[in-house]
Amino acid sequence: MPGATMVKRHLNDLRGCFADTAAYEAALAAGNPLLYSVGAVEPADGEGDLHYGVGLLMPGKIGNEYWMTKGHLHSWRPAAEFYFGLTGEGVMLLEDEATGENRIVPLRPNGVVYVPGRTAHRTMNVGNTPLTYLGVYPAKAGHDYSTIARKNFRCIVVERDGKPVMIERPS
Ligand code: PA5
Ligand code: MN
Repeated sequence: MPGATMVKRHLNDLRGCFADTAAYEAALAAGNPLLYSVGAVEPADGEGDLHYGVGLLMPGKIGNEYWMTKGHLHSWRPAAEFYFGLTGEGVMLLEDEATGENRIVPLRPNGVVYVPGRTAHRTMNVGNTPLTYLGVYPAKAGHDYSTIARKNFRCIVVERDGKPVMIERPS
């Protein structure tokens, strides 16, 4: 059905995402800030149609991990997506579902990140200002959050000497 939706995610919606659980619980005890919102537009659902969303991710950190989105795979696994950076300084964490390989790609104003199919994707704000971006994907892509909720990403992105660095998730 054609339509538009607005999703808002607060810190308590990101339970399980951050590696530093003590820092997460301490932050949550102090408040439950809005981390990000996504305004999604679904003009039509036919084969060949596109859906798109504008994301707004605020700056912040839990321990030394940047505020991030939940992250997902597409329910229809072959669906690719492109992100177009609008404002702010971001990084995307991409995990190939078949190989488990993780990599990070900068998301900058007027820059494009191509997310291939069968690739879990999560966005981090690594700057000090709001990060905004446009994501465009096939109408039938769908969002699978359950796989990431169960396994999480193999790697995390932390600040080291003021820069984002990808490291293995501590066990
Ligand atoms: O469809 C997309 O990939 C984006 O619009 C995301 O929904 C957005 O970045 C928010 O991330 P998530 O859906 O993982 O919460
Ligand atoms: Mn997506």
